[in-house]
Amino acid sequence: MRKVMFVCLGNICRSPMAEFMFLEKIRKLGLEDHFKVSSAGTSDEEHGNDMYPPVKEILRRKGIPFSRHHARRLTKGDYSRYDLFVAMDSGNIRNLNRLFGLDPGHKIRRMLEERDVADPWWTGDFETAYRDIDEGLDRIIEEVLNVGI
Ligand code: 4NP
Repeated sequence: MRKVMFVCLGNICRSPMAEFMFLEKIRKLGLEDHFKVSSAGTSDEEHGNDMYPPVKEILRRKGIPFSRHHARRLTKGDYSRYDLFVAMDSGNIRNLNRLFGLDPGHKIRRMLEERDVADPWWTGDFETAYRDIDEGLDRIIEEVLNVGI
């Protein structure tokens, strides 16, 4: 069982989008029983809130099922409960390092190694966020399948 946590700042845009997109990808591969998937933010700003409406709109348009989301902030205890923390940008990584202290398990990575997934909360560009997340998720799945689950 691989336990994957997607991380962004508010947990209402990028990380829940990634969570539902990942769920749909592993469902299509018949691998849903091999993963526990979740998302959380490094800030508490949106606590309890559902995904931002434009995120739901793009998921609907792409045919990706989703359910009512409740934004939550990461806690220090999450470190031991997950195998992998996939952060959307370098700011999230800094916040994760601050929260967890060290990363002895090398569990923290950025969604795209070479660049940030820009925050559509500020850019208004949900399509680019979707495309970047889609690309990052495909790479993660490929890596996991290569290593074996
Ligand atoms: P997210 O976007 O990190 O992709 O969920 C944000 C949503 C809300 C806020 C910041 C980022 N906010 O400051 O409320």
